[in-house]
Amino acid sequence: MSAIAALAPWFHNLHLPSGEQTAPQHPLGDFPLVKWRQIEPFIAPDLTGQRVLDIGCNAGFYSFELARRGANVTAIDIDAHYLKQAHWAAAQFGLSERIQFQQASVYDLAESADRFDIVWFLGVLYHLRHPLLALDILHEITARQMVLQTLTMPGDVVVTPPSGIGLDQRNELTRHGWPCMAFIERELAGDPTNWWAPNHACVEAMVRSAGFRVTVRPGHEIYICEPDPAEPEVMRGLREAELQAVARGATSRAAAAMRSGEMR
Ligand SMILES: C[S@@+](CC[C@H](N)C(=O)[O-])C[C@H]1O[C@@H](n2cnc3c(N)ncnc32)[C@H](O)[C@@H]1O
Repeated sequence: MSAIAALAPWFHNLHLPSGEQTAPQHPLGDFPLVKWRQIEPFIAPDLTGQRVLDIGCNAGFYSFELARRGANVTAIDIDAHYLKQAHWAAAQFGLSERIQFQQASVYDLAESADRFDIVWFLGVLYHLRHPLLALDILHEITARQMVLQTLTMPGDVVVTPPSGIGLDQRNELTRHGWPCMAFIERELAGDPTNWWAPNHACVEAMVRSAGFRVTVRPGHEIYICEPDPAEPEVMRGLREAELQAVARGATSRAAAAMRSGEMR
């Protein structure tokens, strides 16, 4: 059996140096090359010395492109199967030295002291039960740019939320274009981890609320963002209070786990 077949199933169609492809029959076309073509004009061609974090790296397509531009890439995924593909493919491309793969969740980054010039966050947000928490965590570790791609629900209309609405004005929330996110309790496209489908207004609002501003939309469902230095202090305060509570919880759970290990 070939290595490609032994490592199947593949979500990324990688064009290997051998001329073979890992998923040539991908239902989304030549994926994710088609998405990369939309994004790459907005990424600096020379990333030498820059630190890039690829979250949900899968088989590593984007990590390879960014490493080829000179970046030092940290690539994380929760799924050991995809990481195995990524390790193997990195060796095929001769890029193993430039990319550090780790099995980790986006939530683990809450405990990270690292900061990254570019945070790559494609195809993961809607798989999370706590998408805003993830964006809040990413704001703390993004130095320059965050590239976000998410499944959305149809519609590009945007109602800019007023600074406040009264209890008796809640019909405003049903207006077409109000930021909203559909919760998918039962699976979408056969995947039970597709939890959320935000509308475009909601993606922008969540990103703002996490302390970013959208600088460009290279394509449908793709948002390039940067930390917003003009974020109102009150928003930052609200966000940080929750993040600190999450970090305190993680620390006390880790301490409790250590204590119970010591007692065994
Ligand atoms: C739809 S794929 C997107 C892959 C790649 N980022 C892309 O855009 O082509 C989702 C990936 O995110 C990973 N993933 C899901 N939940 C995650 C989490 N909490 N933290 C890190 N990775 C996660 C999955 O294992 C999978 O590889």
